[in-house]
Amino acid sequence: MKGIILAGGSGTRLYPMTQVVSKHLLPIYDKPLIYYPLSVLMLAGIQDILIISTPEDTPIYEKLFKNGCELGLHISYKVQEKPRGLAEAFILGEDFIGDDRVCLILGDNVFYGQDLTKILRKVISSDSSSVIFGYPVKDASAFGVVEFDKNRNVISIEEKPKEPKSNYAVPGLYFYDNSVVDIAKRILPSERGEIEITSINNYYLEHEQLKVELLGRGMAWLDTGTPQGMLKASEYVEAVQSRQGFYIACLEEIAWRRGFIDDAQLRLIGDKLKMTDYGKYILSLLDEEHK
Ligand code: G1P
Repeated sequence: MKGIILAGGSGTRLYPMTQVVSKHLLPIYDKPLIYYPLSVLMLAGIQDILIISTPEDTPIYEKLFKNGCELGLHISYKVQEKPRGLAEAFILGEDFIGDDRVCLILGDNVFYGQDLTKILRKVISSDSSSVIFGYPVKDASAFGVVEFDKNRNVISIEEKPKEPKSNYAVPGLYFYDNSVVDIAKRILPSERGEIEITSINNYYLEHEQLKVELLGRGMAWLDTGTPQGMLKASEYVEAVQSRQGFYIACLEEIAWRRGFIDDAQLRLIGDKLKMTDYGKYILSLLDEEHK
């Protein structure tokens, strides 16, 4: 399974914060926003990752993650010249995907929850053609929204409906089989001129190949679309980390626990960062009791 992080867009909803800095590089508490979606791909066990971003920002991501080998990953990069829609990720990523399956995560989506790894593993080992998620929110009108019939069967996915037919929003985490590349090439742009991920999902649905997994209370899917959302997400991460002592989206820890890197590599990175709490945390993992 390949993984794509789409970290494009102009971030206009966060101006002036994002006038010259990519939204996905802004901090959520103690790490750049993009660490959080990358951590999800790593928890899913995905090591081949493509980061798609704007012409201006792609070089910055290359500087940040290089080829990924410090984390035991293979990271490559692709420029999206213009924001033509999320589904363009599969067209831009065609060579990268090859004949594999693919998971797309949006660069501003933060997930955290006890069952996350279990859910990801279940999806990866299933043979469903496509899996997306439904997450209850108070107001779903800013998202893709799942519509159910009386028997809770999914009948459609609507993109940003004025009057949502349910309170289940579709988070920015999608799993597809290889046919997604051809489907993405065939779908037509929406009224706002973008090839929508929702059109891809509806295509799978019409062909009875869409599985929607509903996420429950125990899962946090945090909004980072507004300054307030970013602040609340930061507060959430700070609260969990300082209360429990476990870090959220510590990429080095995940790489080490998943066996992508060994003790020596973890120590090397920890030593470089040991002037920070983040670095101290990494080094503390090597103490016997954490192993
Ligand atoms: C996109 C998708 C939407 C999805 C959301 C999740 O919207 O179009 O279906 O629910 O991401 O973050 P955007 O936030 O890019 O407008």
